[in-house]
Amino acid sequence: MRVNVNNLSFAYTQKIVLNKLNFKLEDGEFLTVVGRNGSGKSTFIKCLLKILKVSDNSIYLDDADINSIRKFQNIGYVPQRIEFSYEFPITVSEVLTSSYLKRKDAYYTSVINSLDINQFYRDNINTLSGGQLQRIFIARALLNNPKLLIMDEPTVGVDSENIKALVKILGDLKARGVTIIISTHEVDFVRELTDYVLAMSELGDYKFLEADQWQ
Ligand SMILES: Nc1ncnc2c1ncn2[C@@H]1O[C@H](COP(=O)(O)OP(=O)(O)OP(=O)(O)O)[C@@H](O)[C@H]1O
Ligand SMILES: [Mg+2]
Repeated sequence: MRVNVNNLSFAYTQKIVLNKLNFKLEDGEFLTVVGRNGSGKSTFIKCLLKILKVSDNSIYLDDADINSIRKFQNIGYVPQRIEFSYEFPITVSEVLTSSYLKRKDAYYTSVINSLDINQFYRDNINTLSGGQLQRIFIARALLNNPKLLIMDEPTVGVDSENIKALVKILGDLKARGVTIIISTHEVDFVRELTDYVLAMSELGDYKFLEADQWQ
């Protein structure tokens, strides 16, 4: 999916977080968003997902202004902090099959296997560790058949083996033309996939760099 961010500004009441942000991504391009705590990474991601309201003509996905899109399709999202409490018992398999609209197929199985979910596939979601739960949310975003995949600090709490597995999956998706936007404080694991870097700082200052200009 193509992403075109055009003079995007955003403020919470008085505080400017995004100030005239501009860049474009083509199919299969990988953007890494970096910046200190509070620099606006999650705010930017929430604007892309219409969780926060932006003005018309600020963000286009393919050729559609996001304000004109009624239902988002083919967008996978892993939020930064997952707040999760199910009052009723639900298993990992139920969570994942319910977010997969097709019958279980080879792609489904490959996602489950590569994130090593089998060992707790039948367990109740409430019994998982933080990193296991994060992997479920990553899997769910991948199962959405994304053309645009947006992940806000997806590796927090995930062990190094599973981060490697995630990097492999992201590389495969990128090769298939999926556009990927990922925010992170741990840049090393995405370095080889990154095409562009959006480096954010306070008060809406930012740099949009090609990966080879990035230290
Ligand atoms: N709902 C909100 N209302 C008011 N201000 C907010 C709100 N959410 C975030 N902010 C402020 O906007 C700024 C950007 O926050 P944001 O969460 O986008 O930063 P971030 O780069 O994702 O930080 P982190 O690395 O800690 O996740 C911060 O100063 C924050 O205090
Ligand atoms: Mg954040």
